[in-house]
Amino acid sequence: MSKILVSGGTGYIGSHTVVELLSAGFEVAIIDSLANSQIDVLDRIERITGKRPEFYQFDLKERHDTRAVLHELDGIDAVIHFAAYKSVNESVNNPFKYYRNNLQSLMNIIDGMIRNKVKYLVFSSSCTVYGQPDTLPVTENSPIKPADSPYGSTKQISEQIIQDAIRSGIDIKAIALRYFNPIGAHESAEIGELPNGEPDNLIPYITQTVAGVRPQLKVFGNDYNTPDGTPIRDYIHVVDLAKAHVTAIKRLLDSDYKSNYEIFNLGTGNGSSVLEVINTFEAVTNRSVNYAITERRSGDIEKIWADATLANTELGWKAKKSLGDALLSAWNWEKKYRNL
Ligand code: NAD
Ligand code: WQD
Repeated sequence: MSKILVSGGTGYIGSHTVVELLSAGFEVAIIDSLANSQIDVLDRIERITGKRPEFYQFDLKERHDTRAVLHELDGIDAVIHFAAYKSVNESVNNPFKYYRNNLQSLMNIIDGMIRNKVKYLVFSSSCTVYGQPDTLPVTENSPIKPADSPYGSTKQISEQIIQDAIRSGIDIKAIALRYFNPIGAHESAEIGELPNGEPDNLIPYITQTVAGVRPQLKVFGNDYNTPDGTPIRDYIHVVDLAKAHVTAIKRLLDSDYKSNYEIFNLGTGNGSSVLEVINTFEAVTNRSVNYAITERRSGDIEKIWADATLANTELGWKAKKSLGDALLSAWNWEKKYRNL
């Protein structure tokens, strides 16, 4: 049985991935500082899977701790590195916090992998690396645009760090997964997205508004060059995304990769506007969303969706769940979390 180290494994995407890894028969060890997640996620994972992953709480910026734990965890076959800070807004106001955390943690993980002869890495990248693309949908070969935020920069630089490390001759094979907009929750509603304070992202804002935690959703602009004037994104169910990590890990462990560093877009291939999301949410949940159209949010791009053909053909992975499935699961999670 292969053993996978999951950094950031108590976080939103990490916890869903740990569930899929355990269900697929992998052993899992998690490292997380709990900077943006809760310890009870471990109980929740155990309730879903009947298995409890090993857990190490520390900050991956600490190089010696990272080395020591990778050493102690002798027998790790691969690492999935989710751990990072992810708030675009916060990164604009506090860029060093983002550069320090997201880059130092990645370098420490790679350093620990080299010392402990762990060969395989899956890295969480983002569609943010494409900025506003000139042509749609975006393929993995679409140009990387100047980053809109320090957060976006950390994803671009992280991809470069991994490529440079591999080019230097170390024995590591890596897959970078560029996620589009992950949404939704596990069908058990045991795990889901838990934003700190006022959410930045659309779906938690919708569910908190409907739950009565927020008075009203602001729709940031309806004067974009899109059919209904609101921006378009490729929203992907987090469980579909989690399964792609299992597929990527198997590709590495089975030596099915075509090069030492591969990149895959993970999206559905379909774009939805903000108003389409709201309408679909209302249709699948039978709840109405109190919203108002306001000014544009600065830094928002107009439209982006993925060409996921490479992931479909090469990884043999395809997003299966619909936007409605994802929105209903997000609402079920919010309801259960708030005992509604
Ligand atoms: P999350 O904040 O829920 O999970 C990240 C986890 O990493 C948290 O549990 C946090 O405590 C931990 N962490 C952060 N810094 C750490 C450190 N120095 N040491 C140890 N643990 C640390 O975020 P998420 O939404 O699950 O995102 C996971 C990854 O996917 C991130 O790298 C993020 O940038 C990337 N990503 C997320 C999205 C999205 O919209 N959620 C989109 C594209 C890419
Ligand atoms: C989606 C749409 C908003 C909130 C962010 C990061 C990106 C990636 C995914 C990590 C936009 C609109 C939102 C609200 C709204 N993360 N909106 N009212 O901006 O596409 O991407 O998360 O890598 O890097 O930038 O996602 O969910 O914030 O916004 O109208 O209260 O919803 O304008 O059109 P975004 P989002």
